Amino acid sequence: MPDGKRAAMVLRGRRIGLRAVESDVEREIWRGWINRPDVMEGMDRAVVASAAEHRRYVDEAVAASLAVFYGIEPLEQPQLVGIVWLWDVDRLGGRAEVRIVIGAPAARGRGYGTDALDVVAADAFGRLGLRELYAYVHAGNEASRRAFERAGFALEATLQREARRDGREVDVHRLSRFKH
Ligand SMILES: CC(C)(COP(=O)(O)OP(=O)(O)OC[C@H]1O[C@@H](n2cnc3c(N)ncnc32)[C@H](O)[C@@H]1OP(=O)(O)O)[C@@H](O)C(=O)NCCC(=O)NCCS
Repeated sequence: MPDGKRAAMVLRGRRIGLRAVESDVEREIWRGWINRPDVMEGMDRAVVASAAEHRRYVDEAVAASLAVFYGIEPLEQPQLVGIVWLWDVDRLGGRAEVRIVIGAPAARGRGYGTDALDVVAADAFGRLGLRELYAYVHAGNEASRRAFERAGFALEATLQREARRDGREVDVHRLSRFKH
């Protein structure tokens, strides 16, 4: 999609819509979010991604059917505020991990994350034919845990000392939601 044109909304929730992210401008905004220190820590990423690395990561994952990326756009204010994605998509087993970032700090705490997770789950269980979604959330990331729980995910296990945050070991919660 050429820069400056709006992508079509493909999935609609109560507060947000999900759509493709195709323009180079939006890809750079997206890269800026994932390179923020707080987001990197919450996602266990240690190295800042260059534009070329980010493009390769996204394009290769999509080409290999490993990931499905969705841009998050509030219905009330049509601009990209975050990304939610299915990762490690296992079509045989019917499972995928879910990851999310609401990039613009001003857009956090408005229910967009919760709604985006709910809409992704509907797409994963419907169109994509998956049966289980799971997520890994650092202990202490209350906004993330709460957003997943509000979107119907339940705590399945707590992995002891699974990650590092601020140089300290932290537990990681695994939350899941099944298609009923
Ligand atoms: C996690 C994240 C996606 C949540 O999205 P969001 O749009 O801000 O979340 P919501 O507005 O839907 O809020 C979810 C819940 O968390 C609560 N919450 C928000 N910030 C909180 C905080 N700092 N502490 C405790 N609870 C918090 C909200 O009140 C809400 O609960 P409620 O519905 O019971 O009131 C967003 O904060 C983010 O992108 N964080 C950085 C990246 C990250 O950590 N991603 C997850 C990795 S697994």
